[in-house]
Amino acid sequence: MVSTIPRVVLPTVQALAEDAAQRFARAASDAVQSHGEFVVALSGGVTPRRLYERLAAPPYLSSVPWSRVQVLWGDERCVPPDHAASNYRMAREALLDHVPIPAANVHRIRGEDEPVAAAKAYERTLRTVLRGARIDLVLLGLGDDGHTASLFPGPPASEVADGEPWVAARYHVAGALWRVTLTPVVINAAAEVLFLVSGEAKATIVRRVLEGPQQPQELPAQLIAPAGGRLVWLLDAAAARDLGAC
Ligand code: 6PG
Repeated sequence: MVSTIPRVVLPTVQALAEDAAQRFARAASDAVQSHGEFVVALSGGVTPRRLYERLAAPPYLSSVPWSRVQVLWGDERCVPPDHAASNYRMAREALLDHVPIPAANVHRIRGEDEPVAAAKAYERTLRTVLRGARIDLVLLGLGDDGHTASLFPGPPASEVADGEPWVAARYHVAGALWRVTLTPVVINAAAEVLFLVSGEAKATIVRRVLEGPQQPQELPAQLIAPAGGRLVWLLDAAAARDLGAC
């Protein structure tokens, strides 16, 4: 089955980062023009890191309205903010330390706290930042096992019955680590969702997620389908290798 989910294939991972940076800059300027600020949720992972490094250099360093950017995270590993595995630390080193974003606009998930408490606190943060609006742009990666953000394969989480939180704690069995993640409820309410996926190692899972049968329990990335927003998958040629023609 060839899916209708919009995907854009770039020849190299560098071209993917450049395309993603252009989309980020455009989304930021559109959002600032329409409602005065740009709310973005960052992802962890090696492909997003390349985007952040690109954004920290010209022309984006001066063309993005950084003072109007509000930074959230799609997920965080439950480690302190200076830990090598921290998504906050990665984004800080690759981007935030190099651009003029006011410290008050950076809203990290407190990975050092108890996971359920950190998730609840981050939900309050999200509601305060959003004030009833939606996230302008959510950046996501795709794990080898079909996960995205920290939504891992497995039985549905029990709190789904519990009022559908925007933020949840999840135990990552393979990594033996708790994580805190936005849930599909809030991701799918965003104005735009951009997946960034690169490398040959992702080719099989990309094909399963985009063109295989719907199995969202095994492939949580299939849960991402913004209701009133735009979804785009940005892939490099290696990750798109096994896809059918669009
Ligand atoms: C994380 C992520 C996660 C990531 C994918 C892809 O914190 O690990 O947010 O969802 O985006 O695992 O990661 P790579 O781009 O490194 O393969």
